[in-house]
Amino acid sequence: MNFLIKLLITTLTLSASLVNCQFIPEPRYLQTSVILNDSWFFLSGVLGGTDEVYELIYLDLPKLSSLTSFQWNSAKESPVESIFSTSCVSTDNSSIYLIGGEMFYPGTNISITTPHIYMFNVNNSSWITPTIAG
Ligand SMILES: *[C@@H]1O[C@H](CO)[C@@H](O)[C@H](O)[C@H]1NC(C)=O
Ligand SMILES: *[C@@H]1O[C@H](CO)[C@@H](O)[C@H](O)[C@H]1NC(C)=O
Ligand SMILES: *[C@@H]1O[C@H](CO)[C@@H](O)[C@H](O)[C@H]1NC(C)=O
Ligand SMILES: *[C@@H]1O[C@H](CO)[C@@H](O)[C@H](O)[C@H]1NC(C)=O
Ligand SMILES: *[C@@H]1O[C@H](CO)[C@@H](O)[C@H](O)[C@H]1NC(C)=O
Repeated sequence: MNFLIKLLITTLTLSASLVNCQFIPEPRYLQTSVILNDSWFFLSGVLGGTDEVYELIYLDLPKLSSLTSFQWNSAKESPVESIFSTSCVSTDNSSIYLIGGEMFYPGTNISITTPHIYMFNVNNSSWITPTIAG
């Protein structure tokens, strides 16, 4: 009997954690967004007040069949927190550029003065700081 109750509690806890495991990002503003192939990426932004984030999150567009039911995904965090930035996709659809705006070192209020261009390589989920001549 005791065993059955324990099993029941374990099963309920497990189902509760399965239900809760969906990633729901906090609402944000001043982010930038871009569409690459079937993914709609959202970069950085502010959660509220002055709390900037460096999250890179995305929605799968084919799964966006209903505006009431969609699933967020988390990609690799960006190396900087940014607001008022812009973003674009490379012509071969394999990377995303995060450009300009106001940028901060993650978790700080310290502004980054240079560089202001970062590249996310979607092939292997890695960020680099491209070297741009001129
Ligand atoms: C990149 O994606 C766009 C939009 O889906 C498409 O029109 C374009 O042909 C793609 N480019 C390449 C090189 O696949
Ligand atoms: C985007 O789609 C193009 C064309 O289908 C493909 O060549 C490219 O690898 C895709 N990019 C990514 C990052 O999956
Ligand atoms: C950044 O500044 C705001 C307001 O000045 C402050 O509330 C916040 O704690 C600061 N954050 C950090 C990480 O210093
Ligand atoms: C991603 O992979 C494709 C196919 O191998 C390659 O053509 C492209 O240059 C790669 N992009 C980056 C940013 O490494
Ligand atoms: C990702 O791919 C780029 C270009 O192909 C390479 O230079 C870089 O080292 C790779 N990064 C990781 C973390 O594998």
